[in-house]
Parts: sequence; structure tokens; C-alpha cells
Amino acid sequence: MELRLETAPLIDLATDCLVVGVPETDSVEATGSELDTLIAELIESGDFKAKLGTTLVLRHPRDLSAMRLVLIGLGKPNAADAFAEQEAFIGLGKALKGLPITEVTLDLQSLTGGDTGRLERLGYGIQWAQYQYTATKPVKEPGKSIDTLVLVGDSANQTAFEVGLTLGRGANLTRNLGNLPPNTCTPRYLADQALALAERFSSLSCEVFDEDAMTEIGMHCLLSVSQGSDEPARLIVLNYQGGQPGDKPKVLVGKGVTFDTGGISIKPSAGMDEMKYDMCGAATVMGCMQTICELGLKANVIGVIAAVENMPSGRATRPGDVVTTLSGKTVEILNTDAEGRLILCDALTYVERFTPEAVIDIATLTGACLVALGKHNTGLLSTDDALAETLLRLGRTVGDPCWRLPIEAPYQKLLDSNFADMANIGGRDAGTITAACFLSRFTENYPWAHLDIAGTAWFSGQAKGASGRPLPLLVSWLRG
Ligand code: BES
Ligand code: MN
Ligand code: ZN
Repeated sequence: MELRLETAPLIDLATDCLVVGVPETDSVEATGSELDTLIAELIESGDFKAKLGTTLVLRHPRDLSAMRLVLIGLGKPNAADAFAEQEAFIGLGKALKGLPITEVTLDLQSLTGGDTGRLERLGYGIQWAQYQYTATKPVKEPGKSIDTLVLVGDSANQTAFEVGLTLGRGANLTRNLGNLPPNTCTPRYLADQALALAERFSSLSCEVFDEDAMTEIGMHCLLSVSQGSDEPARLIVLNYQGGQPGDKPKVLVGKGVTFDTGGISIKPSAGMDEMKYDMCGAATVMGCMQTICELGLKANVIGVIAAVENMPSGRATRPGDVVTTLSGKTVEILNTDAEGRLILCDALTYVERFTPEAVIDIATLTGACLVALGKHNTGLLSTDDALAETLLRLGRTVGDPCWRLPIEAPYQKLLDSNFADMANIGGRDAGTITAACFLSRFTENYPWAHLDIAGTAWFSGQAKGASGRPLPLLVSWLRG
């Protein structure tokens, strides 16, 4: 999409489509121009309500040079939280995508008031809505698509808006990987995508470990998950050097289970197709790495992806098997469906070598997280209060929220095993917490937080598909 700044008065803009934001106030002063009279009439007549997210399209609007006027309601001033506002801007993006236009002119003042966060969310929403899954299903009647964005505003507005577009592109990369079928998106496919990403940016390098390399360094716990699959595992290490050589890196670790059948502890068949999204943690890491490369972030960031397929077979891990992790600790695998923690623990030990400033892992780890928090908040579990507070605050600020659950000693006891240092499950209770307790035993040497995205990474039902979350939260943390 081409971007251009414009300063002419709104009513004189000859464009396919002019977009104006309208707050829910007693008197209409949305644009401070003649346009306000028209908007006031529409509100007066009941044709338009400025409730957050409402849109109205007018063709040949009176007294305007624009072909179309699109109004979007912004709700009561300062009433909306960032999440609701982000949803509204995604809704605007979808409305625009449905129109037969190639050019959109956005009045940034009325839409955002010049607020940096809002400008980012506007760009993100427009970009997010542009995404179309085409890998295995071509679009039937391809209509016109937006190729030019005209911004009415100044260059500072443009900069923030473009950050939003970049975040949206990153999220769309994440979504596309999450949506790809599991016979395409295998561990080796993820590795190829990571290598291709590193080819695009000189600041990014990529190293891929195959199963022999992982055996050699002792990642037996990770390998115990992939051993039942004909698809070999991969450990992918993306290294972004945007800071000083000595700066400690922030590290992201993503769960990349490209398909989770449960293994020998096999899952019920209903809805099992959705277990292709069990690599959304990995996909989020990829999206974040692209985003920081495009932003030219001045910091060092490592992205690690543990990529495996969890399948049953004559070679698969049995319940009762005991494996030795990279850390040397032993694990009794009581349920092969609790596989995410088995791959993450070795990746979390591996990243110690980078002496991280902090590590965040991102994983579709537990169905229990969906039960506890639903699809609105990402589950946040951390042994570091300062890091947890930061993530809670950033989540609210950028509209990609998370909610903290505890990690405490009484829960740790649930992982006791008679035959190994720990079991890989803690029983029925507190499933999200015991999963994080398991991970916490491999993160003692750095500040660490765990994001359980089982609920937030994916829409089910009609909108089935990946959401791109929690990329906005993570990038805002990386930008620090
Ligand atoms: N990938 C699943 C978790 C999951 C479930 C993500 C539903 C998204 C939607 C994970 O590997 C898993 O199977 N977890 C088990 C753990 C249990 C065996 C302790 C679960 O949640 O049932
Ligand atoms: Mn599982
Ligand atoms: Zn899983």
C-alpha cells in the first residue's frame, strides 16, 4: 500500500473514499468544517449513531469532492478502552475492504485526535482487515483492493500510523502461519520460513537445529514429543542484533506444535483439526521478529521456536516413560498430551546461554486457560513481579490484555513423581498454573514470564482462524 500525506480541506479532497471519525457528543464538531453540518443532520435524523464502531457509507455526499464518505462512531470521548477501540478500527478496516475502492483518505485528526496509541491502532486495524487467506482457497470474485492510503495529518501522525501498519503486517504473518493446514505447516516449513525471514534483513540471522544436533546437546525431552512423528523436529533460533553488541537480549520462546493429536494420550476427534493452531506461539515469535526488523528496533532480541509434531505411533512416547531434559532434570511423562511444556522446558534451558535480560514464552499451553479466562485475556504467569506488572500494564495500554494467575509452592507439589524429578501433569485442578509451575523449574536463571494463549490466539466458530495476538503486547514490550 502506498502512503501519502494531504493537507487540503476535507471538503475539497477528490478521493474514492473519505473516512471521518465522529465522537458521541451533544454538539457535532468532528471536523471543525462544513462537513459537521452534514454529520449533525445524519445524527439528528437518526441515520447515524456515533456509538463506538458504528459505520455509515454515503455515496456522493453533499458538498464534498469525495466520491464516498465513511463515518465511524468513536463513542463517548475517552470512554473506550484500547481493546474496544482496536476492535472498532478492525471493524472499520473490514468495512473499507468491502467497498469497491482502491484509495482511502483518512482524516487522522477526527479519527485519533493525534494520539500516538490511537494512530497505531488505526493502522493496525486497517492492515489487519486487509489480510486474506489464499493458500488453499482462492478468492472467488476478487474485487478492488486498497492500494493507496491518503493521510490527512502531519508527518508525526504518519510515523505512528505506519508503526500500526507494520504491527498489522506482523500480525498477519502470524495469522497466516496459524491458518495454514498442518500438512503444509510442519516443523521443517517453519524452519524454512524463519530462514527466509532472516534472508530479508541484514540485522537478522537464523540457525536451525535438526534432531541429530538436538540429540547431541541433550534435548531429549523435546525429542520425546516428536519421536512418534514422521515429521522431524526443529529448533529454530532467530537472532536480531539491533542494539550494542554487549546489550543483553530480550528472548521470546514460542511453542511450535504444528499438530497436536495428543500422542498416545490421544485427543477426542471432535474439533481436533483446530490443533493445527498449536504452533501459534511460534507464529507470534515469527511475526514479532519481522515487526522489529521492519521497525529497525534498537535492541537485541532472540526468538526461539521449538517445532514438533505430536503423533501416536509404534515409536511414540508412552505414558510412564521417563526422559532426561537438557537441564539434567528427569520427567515422568504421565500424559503425552501435555507436550507443550516438554518442548518448552528444553528451549528455556537452551536460552540460558544468551544471558537474557528477560525471557517470555508464548504457548497455546492449556485448555484450562480457555476455561479460566476465555478468549479475552491471555494467561500471564511469572516468577518476576516487575515483569508481570509491566506486561499487565502494556496489555491494557495497547489493547491486547493479559491477566495474571499465581505460581506458588503449594501448586508445585502437584507435580511430584515417585520415579522422576517431576511429572509432566499435576492432575485436574489448576491446569494452567501447574503447567507454568513445570516451566518455572527451567527458568531459574533469568526473569521470566509465560503467556498462555490457548484462548486468545484463535477464533473458533464462523470466524475460525488465528487472531495475531499477543503480537501487539509483545512488540510493545520489546520496544520498551
Ligand atoms: N495444545 C493443548 C492445549 C490447548 C487446548 C490449546 C485447547 C488450545 C485449545 C495442549 O497441548 C494440551 O493438550 N494440554 C492438555 C494438558 C493436560 C493433558 C494436562 C489440556 O489442556 O487438556
Ligand atoms: Mn497437547
Ligand atoms: Zn499442545
